[in-house]
Amino acid sequence: MADSVKISFAKFPANLEGTSVLLAASGAAGGRASLSAAAEALVAPAGDLLERAGAADRFDGKSGAVLDLLAPAGLAVPRLLVVGAGKAADLQPLDWLKLGGSIMGRLPESAGEVGILIDLPGVDVTPQAAAEVALGLRLRAYSFDLYKTKKKSEDAAGKLRVTLYVKDDAAAKRAWKKREGIGEGVAIARDLVNEPANVLTPTEFARRAGDLAKVGVDVEVMGEKDLKKLGMRALLGVGQGSDEESQVVVMRWNGGKSDSAPVAFIGKGVVFDTGGISIKPAAGMEDMKGDMAGAACVVGLMHALARRKAKVNAVGVIGLVENMPDGKAQRPGDIVTSMSGQTIEIINTDAEGRLVLGDVLWYAKERFKPRFMVDLATLTGAIMVALGTENAGLFSNDDALAASLHEAGQETGEKVWRMPLSPEYDKLIDSKFADMKNTGGRFGGSITAAQFLQRFVGTVPWAHLDIAGTGMSSPQSEINRSWAAGWGVRLLDQLVARQYEE
Ligand code: BES
Ligand code: MN
Ligand code: ZN
Repeated sequence: MADSVKISFAKFPANLEGTSVLLAASGAAGGRASLSAAAEALVAPAGDLLERAGAADRFDGKSGAVLDLLAPAGLAVPRLLVVGAGKAADLQPLDWLKLGGSIMGRLPESAGEVGILIDLPGVDVTPQAAAEVALGLRLRAYSFDLYKTKKKSEDAAGKLRVTLYVKDDAAAKRAWKKREGIGEGVAIARDLVNEPANVLTPTEFARRAGDLAKVGVDVEVMGEKDLKKLGMRALLGVGQGSDEESQVVVMRWNGGKSDSAPVAFIGKGVVFDTGGISIKPAAGMEDMKGDMAGAACVVGLMHALARRKAKVNAVGVIGLVENMPDGKAQRPGDIVTSMSGQTIEIINTDAEGRLVLGDVLWYAKERFKPRFMVDLATLTGAIMVALGTENAGLFSNDDALAASLHEAGQETGEKVWRMPLSPEYDKLIDSKFADMKNTGGRFGGSITAAQFLQRFVGTVPWAHLDIAGTGMSSPQSEINRSWAAGWGVRLLDQLVARQYEE
């Protein structure tokens, strides 16, 4: 990741220097934008310049509105940006985060030294709000240019150094210390998803997950010998056509009481999905390097939880395989025995994610007896048909867990939409020859995939997030300009924070 922005906090300055950003609030409908008293004082040397520029551009201080002034007379700054924040009293953490993102989007890389006055009229801006702005700056500044040999943003002329001016800089620094790890977690997830599969093999992925040890996460890596012993034949069947060895990684963060059952996060980590013998069409197949976005999210999340020393016991378990066609590859019609003992008839080798997750969910449930399990998987194209790229599909056997996830989604902007599960759908994956088959026909493809997973979770409260539409090829937003948004890290961190921390 190119960490192209340095962030620091300081008290309100006596005057403006360097590229400067002020926040404006919107007034009543049709009203003028307003600045805080501190901001007014800082631009006083410019006389009525702002007033006139604002009128000329009909700047109303609404969210998204920006007044961009170059070399404003009377001020010793190369550029003054006045950024609309909207109605000051209504701002939620997510609004501050997006505000940070939009500010970053307005700063040219050559800006060098930048100061942002975090202040609005009529409200007391909290240290937490300032930290959200900082997080928004970081998320927006992310770019994946590891393989661009012509331009490396590291040595670009102006690496940005941003100072956030706040009333209480010590408190803002403390708040940022709690949030900075989330930014790192999202960047880790984005990096993993953006990496091509010739670099990010299952073993390389496992090696990178091993870096979590540096922040205090316990990491265990299991190879094919271990997985055979455990009986994970469903997972191994997916990887058997690949030259790359399949892996399962277990990550543990023990921040809670030693006797309290952990929460568990499970990720699909298909480092590349050709479809196997049921091979995918060529067009767009390159996107299937991102078929490990669920596993990437789990790694990023574990990093985030550890960095903010979350008071919770959390385990992450990811299944890492490559789905390739080969003389040794699994065939349609093959029957495999999963770790649970249930047998599966393979109908389509491209429905591989559920085979991986079935074993990993079962393993996590048996070994850790978790309070709940949430799995993330780029599982079906059908979820994109149903929900597009704005919401992930949520399937759950537990209304309370589903409601918590929905609320965490509203709070973080990583939204989920609940989909149904029921015995009628479950019947669709009964098989002529085995206990179940790995596809359920043309209709309700995301639902039958979820029904398949449910056969491996027993009575543990469980939620499945189908992130095929959100985990990769992500829509561009205020806080993301990368192909991979690192979707889910902020959502699940929030779920843990609001619901399960002791
Ligand atoms: N990884 C794909 C799902 C996917 C598709 C993710 C497009 C992101 C973008 C998954 O393994 C898959 O191939 N699913 C099949 C299932 C089908 C064969 C029952 C699908 O969705 O077509
Ligand atoms: Mn597939
Ligand atoms: Zn897949």
